[in-house]
Amino acid sequence: MKKDSVLKRLQGYMGNRKILLPLSLTSSALSAAMGIAPYIFIWLIARELLTHAGQIAGTSVLNYAWWAMGAAVLSVLLYFVALISSHLAAFRVENNIRREAMGKIVKMPLGFFDGNSSGRIRKIIDDDSGTTHSFLAHQLPDLSGSVILPLATIVLVFVFDWRLGLACLAPLVLAFGTMAFMMGVASRNFQKQYMDALEDMSSEAVEYVRGIPVVKVFQQTIFSFKRFHNSILRYKDLVKKYTDSWEGPFSFYAVIVQCFAFFLVPAAILLVARGGDYGTVLADMFLYILVTPVLSSTIMKSMHINQSLFQAGEAINRIESLTDVEPLPETSSPREITSGDIVFDNVLFQYPGAEKNAVDGISFTLPEGCLFALVGPSGGGKTTIARMIPRFWDVLEGSVSLGGADVRDISLENLMDHVSFVFQNTRLFKTTLRDNIIYGCPDATEEQIERALDLAQCTEILDRLPDGLDTLIGAEGTYLSGGEQQRIALARAFLKDAPVIVLDEATAFADPENEHLLQEALRELMKGKTVLMIAHRLTTIQDADRILVIDKGQIAEEGCHEELLNKGGIYHRMWNEYQEAVEWTIEREANYV
Ligand SMILES: Nc1ncnc2c1ncn2[C@@H]1O[C@H](COP(=O)(O)OP(=O)(O)OP(=O)(O)O)[C@@H](O)[C@H]1O
Ligand SMILES: [Mg+2]
Repeated sequence: MKKDSVLKRLQGYMGNRKILLPLSLTSSALSAAMGIAPYIFIWLIARELLTHAGQIAGTSVLNYAWWAMGAAVLSVLLYFVALISSHLAAFRVENNIRREAMGKIVKMPLGFFDGNSSGRIRKIIDDDSGTTHSFLAHQLPDLSGSVILPLATIVLVFVFDWRLGLACLAPLVLAFGTMAFMMGVASRNFQKQYMDALEDMSSEAVEYVRGIPVVKVFQQTIFSFKRFHNSILRYKDLVKKYTDSWEGPFSFYAVIVQCFAFFLVPAAILLVARGGDYGTVLADMFLYILVTPVLSSTIMKSMHINQSLFQAGEAINRIESLTDVEPLPETSSPREITSGDIVFDNVLFQYPGAEKNAVDGISFTLPEGCLFALVGPSGGGKTTIARMIPRFWDVLEGSVSLGGADVRDISLENLMDHVSFVFQNTRLFKTTLRDNIIYGCPDATEEQIERALDLAQCTEILDRLPDGLDTLIGAEGTYLSGGEQQRIALARAFLKDAPVIVLDEATAFADPENEHLLQEALRELMKGKTVLMIAHRLTTIQDADRILVIDKGQIAEEGCHEELLNKGGIYHRMWNEYQEAVEWTIEREANYV
C-alpha cells in the first residue's frame, strides 16, 4: 500500500532511530483513544443529571469528572510524546536526505549538471526535504489519531443509540463522500501537476535572473521574460481551475457539516414520541452534539493528512529521481598512467534521452607532448569529445584512454590530477582570489601562486584589486570581466601543472587586448604538455600538430593546417569565412578611428 511505502521510505532515512516512527504512531493512537474517554464520562454525568434529577449521587458525578480530567491530561501527555518523537524523526530525516543527496550529487558525472539547472537541484534538495520534514513533524502525530478517532467515535455513536447514530452519520457520510471524491484521483493528478508547475516556475525564475545581464545587452527583455511569465501563467491557470472545481462540493460540505444537529433533533423527537425514555434520549443527544464536530474535524484532518502523505511521497520521488542517476563508476583496481598519450578508440556517445549519437565513431591518437585542435561547425560534438577525457560523461561504446589505461580504470583522483581543463564559461567561486586559484592545489606555496599568476598574465588584475589576493570575488563591486576570469582560471591550471590540458574555447570571452595576453599565457601553459584544444579563432590553432574537423559527431577531415587548406573542404571554407570576418572587423575598426 502507498501509505506503508511512503512511511517505510521515510523511515529508511531515520538511521539508527527507526523506533521514533512506531513510537510516535503508537503514542498518538493511544492519545486519540484517551481523547474519547472524557466524552463518555461527560455523557455519564449528563445521563446521571437528566435521569436521576433530584436524587443525584454526588460522589459518582464527581468521580466521573475526575476520570474525565485524568483521561484528558493523559491524552495530552501522550500527544506530547508523539510530537517530540515525530519532530526528532523529522529533523533526522530532513538532514539525512540532504546529506545523502549531496553525497550522491558530488559523485555524479560532471555532465549531469548540464541538464539539471541549479534552481531545480536547489528546490529539490531544499524544499522537498523540507516537505518531508513538515509532514513528519506536524502530520505524523495526527496520522494514527486520524484513523483511530473517527473509528472509535463511529463505534461509540452506534453503540449508544444506533438510530441517533444513523441520523447524525448519514449526512456526514454524504459530506465526506463528496470531499473524498474531490480529493481522490483528480486531486492526485493535480498535486503532481502542481508540483511540476512549481518546479518549472522556480527554475525559470533562476534562469531569468541569471540571464538578466545578457538580456540587457541584447535588449531582449520581452522574449526572455516571456518564458518566466508563461511559467507563472501556467501555474496560475492550473491553481485557478482547480480552485473553481471545488466551489460547489465545498459549499455542500460546509453546509452539511455545520447543520448536522438539524437531523439529530427530529430524530430525537421521533424517538421520544415512540416511547423512548426522555432522559436517556436527551443524554444521548447531548453526547452526539458534542462528539459529531470532533468526528467531522478529525475526518477533515485525515483527508489533509492523506494529501500531505501524498506530497511527502512525491517529494521523496523527486529527490530519489534526481539522485537516481548512476554515479560515475569507480574502479576497484585502478591502473597507473604511464605516459601522456590520449587515445580515442571508436568512441560512441549519446546524451541521455537524445536520438542521435553526439559522438559517432571517433578514433585518434594524441601523442604525449603534442597539440591537437578540434574545429568544426557548431553542435558538431567538439565539446562532448573534449569532456570525455576528464569523464564528464563515459563512452557508450569504444574507449578513451590516457597513458595506456582506459580513463574508467584510472582512479578519479589520479585522473583529475593528470588533466587540467579550462572551459568557455569559467565560473569563479564567491570567495577570495587566493582560494579560487589554489582550488585543487591547496598546498601551493606563496612563490608558486605568484609564478602562476605571473604566467597567466594576472599581475595587472591583482594590482587593481584593493586587497590583492585576499580580495573577495563578487563582493562589494569586485567583479572580473570574462577575459579576466579566464586568466584566473588559467592561473589555476598553471598552478596545477597537469601534464594533459583540455581547452574548450578558453579565450572565447576575451576582448582583443585580453586575447593577446591570454594567447601568450596559453602558449606558456601548453609548453611540453599534451593538449587538446577547441578554438573558434582559427589563427589560434593553425600551428597545431594536427587539426581534426568534427562534424555530426565524426571526424570529417584531419591533417595539419596546410594539408587541410589544400584539401579544399570544410576547413578550407571555414578558414576563408574566418579571414573575411577578421578583415571585416579590421576594416570596421579602422573606420572608427
Ligand atoms: N547536455 C546535453 N544534453 C543533451 N544533448 C546535448 C548536451 N550537450 C550537447 N548536446 C548535443 O550534442 C551535440 C554536440 O554538442 P557539442 O556541445 O559537443 O557541440 P560543439 O561542437 O561543441 O558545438 P559548439 O561549437 O557550438 O560549442 C549537439 O547536437 C548538442 O545539441
Ligand atoms: Mg562546444
